[in-house]
Amino acid sequence: MPTSLPAPIDFGQPCPIRPSRETLTLLAERRSSSAATLRAPGPDSDQLADLLRVAARAPDHGKLSPWRFVVLEGDGKAAYVRALERIAAQRGHNPAALAKLSTPPLAIVVVSRAGEGKIPEWEQVLSAGAVCTLLLVAAEAMGFGANWISDWYAYDEAARQALGLDAHERVAGFVYVGTAPEPPLERVRPEMAQITSRFEG
Ligand SMILES: Cc1cc2nc3c(=O)[nH]c(=O)nc-3n(C[C@H](O)[C@H](O)[C@H](O)COP(=O)(O)O)c2cc1C
Repeated sequence: MPTSLPAPIDFGQPCPIRPSRETLTLLAERRSSSAATLRAPGPDSDQLADLLRVAARAPDHGKLSPWRFVVLEGDGKAAYVRALERIAAQRGHNPAALAKLSTPPLAIVVVSRAGEGKIPEWEQVLSAGAVCTLLLVAAEAMGFGANWISDWYAYDEAARQALGLDAHERVAGFVYVGTAPEPPLERVRPEMAQITSRFEG
């Protein structure tokens, strides 16, 4: 589905509050797709730029942009998978599990750059989570399946280095995007009454 995002709004200009039944329906029904089932076609370069632009609008206390993106596609992704295969062999991890990364046409790594400063680090990390969520929602709004996954290579030091992460950076998630072969089935959801209370004073 081609996207036709509005032009970026200039600094200081009003951002419309626009009721959208379609957005609510998407949020009410969205579901992650199994990453290893995601196939081509994935987003084209314009769609990828739109995904990143939308995700980078995540709430961000202090306007620090305490995150960045690493795009994994094509030969670059294949090279990263080969590096992970070598690390997986050393660690005794099942190499078949890398299908989650090798199969989808696109993976966007959201890297948290949270650090100490005026803004609590916790809030900077939360902002990276919001970026991942926006990526999922935007990808589904374009008609793609998507999934937010960490897996061992988000935490393994050699895997982090292979991706070019600095010591203070952490993987918030690998967001996989591609065409889902079929609609994902609904999962168990929390009972709203069990996770909601009203503060009565
Ligand atoms: C931070 C984070 C890390 C995750 N890592 C994994 C993972 O390594 N492996 C996995 O199978 N699912 C992982 N998940 C769960 C998947 O995203 C899961 O498919 C999804 O939460 C399903 O819920 P949904 O359909 O409502 O999106 C992770 C979720 C989050 C938020």
